[in-house]
Formats: sequence, structure tokens, C-alpha cells
Amino acid sequence: MSNHSKQEGRGQWASHFGFLMAAVGSAVGLGNLWAFPYKLGKNGGFAFLLIYLVLVFVVGSVVMVTELSLGRMTKRGPIGAYSALDKRFTFNGAISVFASFIILSFYSVLGGWSLKYFLTYVLEMFGNGFHGLSGADFFNSFVADPVQAVLYHALFMAITGVIVLGGISGGIERCSKVMMPALFVMMLAVIVRSVTLPGAADGLAFIFKPDFTVFQGSGGLAVFAAALSQMFFSLSLGMGITICYGSYLPPSSNILRSAVIIPLCDTLVAVMAAVAIMPAVFAFGLDPKQGPSLLYVVLREVFAAMPGGAFFGALFYLLVFFAALTSSIALLEVTASYLVDERKIPRKKSVFWAVAGVFATGLPSALGFGVLGDVTLPTFSGEMLGILDWVDYVGEYALMTIGVLIMCIFVGYVLGPKRVIAEIERDGTVFRLKGVWSFMIRTVTPALVLLTFLTATGLLKL
Ligand code: PFF
Repeated sequence: MSNHSKQEGRGQWASHFGFLMAAVGSAVGLGNLWAFPYKLGKNGGFAFLLIYLVLVFVVGSVVMVTELSLGRMTKRGPIGAYSALDKRFTFNGAISVFASFIILSFYSVLGGWSLKYFLTYVLEMFGNGFHGLSGADFFNSFVADPVQAVLYHALFMAITGVIVLGGISGGIERCSKVMMPALFVMMLAVIVRSVTLPGAADGLAFIFKPDFTVFQGSGGLAVFAAALSQMFFSLSLGMGITICYGSYLPPSSNILRSAVIIPLCDTLVAVMAAVAIMPAVFAFGLDPKQGPSLLYVVLREVFAAMPGGAFFGALFYLLVFFAALTSSIALLEVTASYLVDERKIPRKKSVFWAVAGVFATGLPSALGFGVLGDVTLPTFSGEMLGILDWVDYVGEYALMTIGVLIMCIFVGYVLGPKRVIAEIERDGTVFRLKGVWSFMIRTVTPALVLLTFLTATGLLKL
């Protein structure tokens, strides 16, 4: 650790592997396990996967390189980074901190559900077998119960807070180094179980059969936009996290390599999740296009029907819990580091207030399936959403995309690509694609981010 960072007490990653595991942990989350498999199935399977892969490396890596560099260059989280570089853009740092804050408020509710499911399967494994309820009834009665809804949200936030309290290397890195490899191994076990079920082949065909007809007409652009917004969320871009994690990198770290490895691992886990889930869903004749209820309703039916279902259910939801937790610690770190760095509040207090604030903000989302079930809020297109979905819409679709768009404009035209290139090359790396990267950050990337913003928010109907 350099004297500089020691004086500031900000901490630093202890090893490059530790940083990678934390960054992959931030990227691998509910987006991979929940959203990716059904979006893949809905949008043409292999065709969607191909587009997604291209976007990950053509757009995702470009943005990731930029965010990591801004962090390492300034040694600050998003607000501090922008204010150090150009005070006029501090607001964009504030947008990303706010986005990460409200995203965590509902993410924690969903993470709490994974904890509930894990504990339920553990009890079912050692107890009297499955609850008699159907997947939908089990889910609906659980989320409608205000006590449980708040309790699991509180528990999930408390666990997130304890890890973040440990700091960068002592808390976040230490946990990620264990949880991410464990997640990978658990995922392999679930895949083996899933693909060896009779009838599993149909599920694999559903994922990998290239259906290029989805690209015909304006549908093609809609699929493209769906892949884009999924890609940004999945790679944790635009929420200040990658800037924040980059700020704890030592100057010797290789940013370019990280911006390839992290998206690669994230995409690998997303595809693995599809391979773990879809064959089992098909094997039991359930509906693969159920959308968001796939993870908590349809899979409950799958595990009830599967030999060894309680064990594999426990394993699977522990994996989901790990994935959600390593993402939520990243989201919490953004707010916590803002309080530590910019407000000079000691880490303990900062984490406490960040947890309390996120917990309180998440209460309406937690209660939105029961006592606040009738509350709906409008999107730009006039569509009415339940509370949790609406908060997701504001954070993920509106704020996140705006944040990335302004960052592209800032780096491309105000700060200038040269500053970022110099930062990347500071450790001796030769940035061979710097011409391509500069071109992308100034043109193609902001154009595509704008398209994502317009379509994801519903301002533009395709
Ligand atoms: N990338 C995570 C996922 O796919 O679930 C979610 C996420 C985590 C988004 C952290 C944004 C973020 F800053």
C-alpha cells in the first residue's frame, strides 16, 4: 500500500486476484441468474447470445476501461473523481451514487428472498419434506407477509453492512475470494443435475437454437436494445461501482486485462445460469417464458419435482445468495466510500448510516407485494408499475444509462481521451487499440447508450 493511500486510510486491494473476484462478484448477480436466462430464451436464444457477446466486448469493455481508469487516476469514488477532474461534472458522480443507492434498496429485497428460499430448502432437507404449496402460492404468501418481507430485507442489508464494514481488502475482497469460486463450483453441480434430467435436451435447444427471425423488422432493434440494457446492468456499469473499485487499484494493475476478464467471467456465469435453469424447466414441462417469476416461482416447482430437489434447491439458492451479496456489497461501498472520502465520516459510522438509509428506502419495495400491493407508479411511457419495479426502472433504466452517456461525453469531449490513455499506459501497458477506444467512446458508445436510454425508459417505442 502506498503512503499516499495509507494517509488517506482508503485501503487498497491486497492482490489482483482479490480485486478481480470482487469486480466479478459485483458483476455476477441477479441480473445473470434471473434476467439473462429468460431474456435469452425470449429473444432468439443463440442469436441473442451472439449480439450480447459482441456488445459486451465492443461497448461494455470500452466503458469498463474508462470507469476503471477514472477511479485509478483520481483515487476517488464517482463524486470525488468527477469533482477532482472537472467540478462542472460532479453532478454526474452524484447521479451514479444515487443510482447505486436506490438500486440497492430493491436489490436487497430480492437478495433477502434468496436467503428465505435457501433457509426453506435447508429446513426441507432436514425436516419433513416440501411445503405442500405450489410454487406460486409459496411465493405469494411469503412476499405478501409484511413481517417476513421486512425481516429478510433487514437481514440481507445487515449481512451486506457487516462485510463492507471490514473494508476493501479485509471485508469485500476476503469474502469475494471465497464466495465467487464457491459460486462457480455450485453452479457446475447444479448444471450436472439439470442436464442429466430426462427431457433436458429441449431446454438446451431452447437456449442455443439460433432463431434469427427475431431480428426481422423493427423487432431486431428491440432485441438489440434489450441486449444493451441487460449488458450495462450485468456488468455493473454506470453506477459508480467500477470507478469506486478502480480507485482501490494500485498503479501497477493492468486495466485492459481486467476489462476483458471481468466481462468474460460475467458472461460465462450468465450462460451457465441459463444452462443450469432451462433444461430443468423443460424437463418438468414448465413455462420457460414466465419472465421474472422464473427464479422464485417456476424453479420452486422444478425443485419440488426433481430427485434430490431439497438439496439442489439449497445449493442453488445459496449460490443466488452469494451472487446477490457480492453485488450488494459493491453497491453499498459506493455510498459508504462517498461518506468516508467526501464527508470525512469514519467508516463504521458511514456504513451504519448507508445501511440504515438503504434499508428505509427499500421498505416500500419490500412491502409492495402485500400491504402496498395496490400502489403503482408511472413510467415515461405511461405504463404503471408496482413499487419495486418502478424503483428498478428509475435506477436501472433512467439513471444508469444517463450516467454512462454523460461519462462518454465528458471523457470524449471535455477531459479528452488522452488523459485516460495516459492513465492506462502508466503501468507500462501498451494500449494498442487506443485509436479504436477513442473513436468508440466519442461516437458509437454514446449513441448506443442513448438508444438504450430511450428504449429502456419507454420514451422510444420500437
Ligand atoms: N451486475 C449485477 C447483476 O447483474 O445483478 C447488479 C448490479 C450490481 C448492478 C452492482 C449495478 C451495480 F453497481
